[in-house]
Amino acid sequence: MSKDLRFDDQVAVITGAGGGLGRQYALLLAARGARVVVNDVGGSVTGDGSDAAAASAVVDEIRRAGGQAVADSHSVTNPAGGQAIVDTALSAWGRLDIVINNAGIVGDAPFEDMTAERLEPLIDVHLRGAFYVTRPAWSVMRERGYGRILNTCSAAGILGAERMSNYGAAKTGLIGFTRVLAAEGAAHDIKVNAIAPIAYTRMLEQSLKSAGQPGEAAAQAVLDDLVGQYLAQLDPSLVAPVAAFLTHRDCPVSGEIYTAGAGHVARFFIGRTTGFYSPGLSVEDVRDHLEEIRDEAGYTVPRGPADEMSELFAAVATRPG
Ligand SMILES: NC(=O)c1ccc[n+]([C@@H]2O[C@H](COP(=O)([O-])OP(=O)(O)OC[C@H]3O[C@@H](n4cnc5c(N)ncnc54)[C@H](O)[C@@H]3O)[C@@H](O)[C@H]2O)c1
Repeated sequence: MSKDLRFDDQVAVITGAGGGLGRQYALLLAARGARVVVNDVGGSVTGDGSDAAAASAVVDEIRRAGGQAVADSHSVTNPAGGQAIVDTALSAWGRLDIVINNAGIVGDAPFEDMTAERLEPLIDVHLRGAFYVTRPAWSVMRERGYGRILNTCSAAGILGAERMSNYGAAKTGLIGFTRVLAAEGAAHDIKVNAIAPIAYTRMLEQSLKSAGQPGEAAAQAVLDDLVGQYLAQLDPSLVAPVAAFLTHRDCPVSGEIYTAGAGHVARFFIGRTTGFYSPGLSVEDVRDHLEEIRDEAGYTVPRGPADEMSELFAAVATRPG
């Protein structure tokens, strides 16, 4: 069919690329010609410690395969770290085309045990981290009139997974971040999308472990069977093509969310029901028309607040109470 999608001459920063999904993104982009900053602090899945060897090992792997990469072990959690990561790309190759905000940690707990100490590190790595890396990259991209940014969100936040209020809040904050930057980047050929991956990495393993084991042996056997059957299919390398396409020059979309796992890819979107209108809306109207308000038939997918405003005034104009 059409020719292969390549990244020759382009420079990509990938955070958290010392293992798991980020490593696969780095290997794929480098194999397709990109020069890659492999960023990773090399800490534990819950964010403890650091080890520069994590990023270096992936760089060695890329170079052995004939690709170009440099290692960076700054943390994304502060503005100086974000600037330093971007500077690594600029001093190595003088340009920056792609940022993949992928660094992440977990710290699951039921909400009654969720403390500020459990919340802050997750907000720092996922939400502030994406902000701190993207901000200096944005200046470079705006000046050149080109950029591709991919943020990492999660079904745990979009759909809601128990025990992950810190993670879900941080990850879903990135959806707002993605959509606002997509709006601001539109005039500058900066496309900003989000990926919600599903992959069997140490992070998924940790979340499964912390969800607790069922008490009975029979239930445990069922779980083990499920684990055996499904987890093996969740190879992180099968998510990488989606990350690569969304950061390619040919990517036509911006402000969108794609879910990817086991070789399957789909789109999440934010829909708006046609709703109910009454010029003198009362509390009882809301109660009495809840089904109509919730009815998914004929929903729309507004591209931005202006679309929603047009829909609102169209409804008000055409449906007198
Ligand atoms: N695995 C899944 O099923 C899944 C699902 C939804 C979202 N995610 C998200 O995908 C991303 C990749 O996760 P993964 O599953 O590959 O886990 P992972 O633990 O293998 O990878 C995360 C990487 O981020 C690095 N990192 C952590 N804090 C950092 C910091 N402050 N600065 C720089 N690097 C840092 C870690 O050292 C690690 O190498 C994360 O954002 C995660 O939240 C994963």
